Amino acid sequence: MTRPKILVAPSILAANFSNLAREVQRAEESGADWLHLDIMDGHFVDNISFGPAVVKTIRGLTSLPLDVHLMIEHPDHYLPRFLEAGANSITVHVEPEAKHDVAQTLGAIRAAKCDVGLSLNPATPFEAVEPYLPSIDLLLVMTVHPGFGGQAFRPEMMDKVKRAKAWRESHGAKLHIEVDGGINAETASVSITNGANILVAGTSIFRAQDYRQAIENLRSNSSG
Ligand code: DX5
Ligand code: ZN
Repeated sequence: MTRPKILVAPSILAANFSNLAREVQRAEESGADWLHLDIMDGHFVDNISFGPAVVKTIRGLTSLPLDVHLMIEHPDHYLPRFLEAGANSITVHVEPEAKHDVAQTLGAIRAAKCDVGLSLNPATPFEAVEPYLPSIDLLLVMTVHPGFGGQAFRPEMMDKVKRAKAWRESHGAKLHIEVDGGINAETASVSITNGANILVAGTSIFRAQDYRQAIENLRSNSSG
């Protein structure tokens, strides 16, 4: 069976914001496949990051696909602004605290011809996303509690990755399985072994001296 291609999506949250253009360029030149943009509103998560204006700025700096992760309340309300800003995929959260009609929001992302993502927090069981799997392109399994970069990977989340992989295989579906939080060479390898094919990484790339080496290190274990 062919193994899905492993994609690396550096998370801009860990970049040096005093020189965003250079950081984006370095990530692109170092072999990033996508850029992961974490949007936080201070309500759904206890942190505030950046909004559509910054997404639009980044859109102007790169041709890489922009993977927008909305950790916000009422994502349906803000959706048009992130679409307009140039997102290629938009991921919303399944938890009731995100305060939206999940099916409707997924439908709106699809209608805009944008890739459709759904995410679940560490405390949320896999069953919460199961009904939506046929209508999404990407399942984002949070491997840390969302809100901040630099946290430790939670290996117990691999059970959800395995279940998503089993679903993907039994349905012959194309679902991407993305992991986000605490991803470094070692935890990337564990995630890939369990079925993940998109690796989001902030700290392990942007705090490295050599971004290319850091990205290669994430991928290099993919034969395991
Ligand atoms: C956490 C964010 C992550 C974060 C990952 O809420 O969704 O994308 O930036 O950062 P690291 O790789 O440092 O754990
Ligand atoms: Zn994220």
